[in-house]
Amino acid sequence: MKNKLVITGGLGFAGKNFYLLNRHKWKNIIIIDKNTYASDLKYFKKIKLKNHKLVLADICKKHLYEKYIDKNTILIHFAAESHVDKSFNSSLNFTINNTFGSHVLLEICRKKKPKKIIFISTDEVYGETFKYKNEKSLLEPTNPYSASKAGADLLAQTYIKSFSLPIIIIRSNNLYGNRQFSEKIIPAIIKALVSNKKVSIHGKGQTSRHFLHINDFCNAINIIIAKSKLREIYNIRGRKCYKILDLMKKMSKVANLDYKKHFTFIKDRPFNDKVYKISVSKLKKLGWTENKVFDKEIYKLIRDKSFL
Ligand SMILES: NC(=O)c1ccc[n+]([C@@H]2O[C@H](COP(=O)([O-])OP(=O)(O)OC[C@H]3O[C@@H](n4cnc5c(N)ncnc54)[C@H](O)[C@@H]3O)[C@@H](O)[C@H]2O)c1
Repeated sequence: MKNKLVITGGLGFAGKNFYLLNRHKWKNIIIIDKNTYASDLKYFKKIKLKNHKLVLADICKKHLYEKYIDKNTILIHFAAESHVDKSFNSSLNFTINNTFGSHVLLEICRKKKPKKIIFISTDEVYGETFKYKNEKSLLEPTNPYSASKAGADLLAQTYIKSFSLPIIIIRSNNLYGNRQFSEKIIPAIIKALVSNKKVSIHGKGQTSRHFLHINDFCNAINIIIAKSKLREIYNIRGRKCYKILDLMKKMSKVANLDYKKHFTFIKDRPFNDKVYKISVSKLKKLGWTENKVFDKEIYKLIRDKSFL
């Protein structure tokens, strides 16, 4: 029997782009998503899913979706509450969806024995890092979002050790690209620039972030599915790193607008990691390279008013 692809969080930014880039390669794809505010269901209503299936279900409720996972499944687990800001005020929601939800999914996998599980984590699990961290570095999260993801990441590691599950963990830096929800910084800036509004920037905009185009990220997932040994962990990051205020200036320049008119400083997060530095050499050994050119992609996103 042929493999099938199961994507959790497939209505969100990363899952949706992964689906769109890969759907022609797979006969059988099942998207599982509970359709939160961050989902792009509208878009899915417009496109034809062909033989593919959308299951509106919460990963915390295993009876709603466990039947879709079996020994022929390649599972990609994107589903999560993903916005750090929100996690300061509704942290339990993050623990429930990200940590507990992932644990429920791992339990299903323990019983159903899928072929491969690609488990999407984040660079934020390392906490603020000025020196490059590799995949063996300690996890030292500093906010409720990253703690909830670190909890999931550690559970996945224990399911590798205790139950030998065929998991591969990917820890990514900030992603950007088509139709991203405008709570994230790049679509928030685009939205402000194209609708003549102001974007709110934390503190003085002095925190730095690396950015990676979603297509390069999806390409990495495909390379990892095809070439990686099981039970490995990979970091992934883009070359470009900007202080948020400099990003604002850069994007305003691309849009030919005066940045000063389009941002306002707001109170900083209770804790805001200054930067995440992660080594990507392990992934590069599999043959992955970053292809997208940041400036060109930013130009296109602004031109196409691409945000949700
Ligand atoms: N976007 C980034 O910059 C970035 C960077 C590093 C890692 N990540 C990780 O990548 C993954 C995808 O991020 P994204 O940007 O696409 O997030 P997103 O917020 O755009 O989408 C998340 C999707 O998951 C779904 N979801 C949330 N809780 C669920 C639950 N309990 N059951 C079923 N579905 C649920 C939501 O409905 C949504 O459609 C997340 O695990 C995130 O932590 C994202």
